[in-house]
Amino acid sequence: MVRVSELQSHDGEAVTLRGWLYKARGKGKLLFLLLRDGSGICQCVVSKDSVSEASFAAAKALTQESSLVVEGTVKVDERAPGGVEVVAAKVDMLQKAEGYPITPKEHGIGFLMDHRHLWLRSKRQMAILRIRHRVLKSFRDYLDGDGFFCVDSPIFTPNACEGTSTLFETKYFDQTAYLTQSGQLYAEASAMALGKVYCFGPTFRAEKSKTRRHLTEFWMLEPEIAFANLEDVCDVAEKMLRYTLQQVLEHNRQDLADLEREPSLLEKWDCSFPRLQYEEAADLLLQWKEQGLYESEFQRGDDLGAPDETMLGQHFGCPVMVTHWPAAVKAFYMKQDGEGHALGVDIIAPTAGEIVGGAVREEDAEVLLQRIREHNLPEDAFQWYLDLRRYGSVPHGGFGIGLERTVSWITGVEHVRECIPFPRTLGRLSP
Ligand code: 4AD
Ligand code: MG
Repeated sequence: MVRVSELQSHDGEAVTLRGWLYKARGKGKLLFLLLRDGSGICQCVVSKDSVSEASFAAAKALTQESSLVVEGTVKVDERAPGGVEVVAAKVDMLQKAEGYPITPKEHGIGFLMDHRHLWLRSKRQMAILRIRHRVLKSFRDYLDGDGFFCVDSPIFTPNACEGTSTLFETKYFDQTAYLTQSGQLYAEASAMALGKVYCFGPTFRAEKSKTRRHLTEFWMLEPEIAFANLEDVCDVAEKMLRYTLQQVLEHNRQDLADLEREPSLLEKWDCSFPRLQYEEAADLLLQWKEQGLYESEFQRGDDLGAPDETMLGQHFGCPVMVTHWPAAVKAFYMKQDGEGHALGVDIIAPTAGEIVGGAVREEDAEVLLQRIREHNLPEDAFQWYLDLRRYGSVPHGGFGIGLERTVSWITGVEHVRECIPFPRTLGRLSP
């Protein structure tokens, strides 16, 4: 079975394409059918003189999103959309789609999201999904090639990882469970077994904020590395991201074109990422605020907000790594430098904001227990986590990268709700 993406190498051969009608044009004796099969869109030329009457009638009767099979000959032709077309010998309609709700006219976002199960078939959404696949594959390929093992973390958990305010609670027989906010704590246990690991899975945050960067269910990949320091963590994240940009440039040119995304931007970002400490970032932001370059409530010591991230991204024009955060704004498990700074790193990407959050983990059992108490976390539930520091504790660190934020950054799609097949947000649980 040949797919549209493979046609270039079948010039002159007879093929059978199976798919859906994206669009049709032409009348009289010549019809042009744009057939999509998920791998791409191909123009099929149906001439009344070269097909049977039944085939021509079927071709004429096709409506948007009707399913069809076309047999024909491949013709590589620079002038055709996609550089190749199929000259049809036979056309069969499998099922006629009547009144497909998403037409080429403009629809509002609410309508499109209500029809998300169909909207996925549009050119833009298909391109986003193919890039999403490539991004994930690149993350995994990079890490697999670097000696990491994939060890997944559970989704039902008894305790919080990233603060207690965004936990989804659920009944678990006669106990209470929480949907995981991050697989990190378990990845730390796995790293103590296998040295270099990553987990990948859905993660959940009861985010009450309605922003273009927040989902309640998103997919996160989390590498965890025994014996790593902050620089090691930053290096892995940077190399993995640069590899991902290279892979998208190599394999997704047509998708970038469908999204009107300049490949040169991705080329520009494949550079060594500037690294700065929080205090330096704060200096810049406060200076820009004072100069009236942007508006923000940011004060030294605060976490960065969306406008602050946007400014940093804009200023550097490539992903920036901010390290050494005020401990008060970061999670309980982060190791500190003795001067009130957490050895954490956020990677801030132009326009998309924070795509990576990582850190060196506190490895001393006593200090960690103290942090758990300071954060009012249930000591009992963390005994297993403290065990990792009781039995052969080693320095270690890792990071989490949000798949949808990364896709939003690379594709230039502004809202993360379009970067996941079926988004879950404050106001949306269906389809
Ligand atoms: O910075 P976060 O909260 O870090 C952690 O969860 C760590 N435990 C990860 C680790 O060190 N293993 O989240 C990491 C990333 C963010 O940088 C962002 O890309 C994504 O997860 N993220 C979200 N993406 C979409 N919607 C949300 N509500 C997100 N919250 C975080
Ligand atoms: Mg974060």
